[in-house]
Amino acid sequence: MTENRLTPSRRAVLTAVPIGAVVLGAAACGDDSGGSNSASPGAESKSTANSSGDVLTTTSAVPVGSGVVVGDVVVTQATAGDFEAFSTKCPHQGCAVAPKDGKLDCPCHGSEFDLDGSLVHGPATEPLTPVHVQVRGADIVRV
Ligand code: FES
Repeated sequence: MTENRLTPSRRAVLTAVPIGAVVLGAAACGDDSGGSNSASPGAESKSTANSSGDVLTTTSAVPVGSGVVVGDVVVTQATAGDFEAFSTKCPHQGCAVAPKDGKLDCPCHGSEFDLDGSLVHGPATEPLTPVHVQVRGADIVRV
């Protein structure tokens, strides 16, 4: 009976050899692709910098009565502790707005927005698009 069990085992071994070779080949390819590269998580963070859950900036980096541009988002602090964020894309023709003199100014055609994103004057006819953020400790996080 023991010999009967050995016979299938030999077959299994013979069958497993090519599979093992394929697995080893795949593992070798995997090693070359950077499986041990610890920089990959950082690269992922960068690629998702504008995604939900990402830290946009810190509370101390946003001046009271103004704002700071982080990528395609402007984070404002109209009054102390009142943080809001908006897309920098001007609703008129898409230029990037930026903080200027306590407002958000579009340099292309002069539209102006309050720090709460509301339209002060055009040619834009709509407010800025809100970006939902939360203060988590000292960080302002996109949610
Ligand atoms: Fe901003 Fe025209 S694109 S005012």
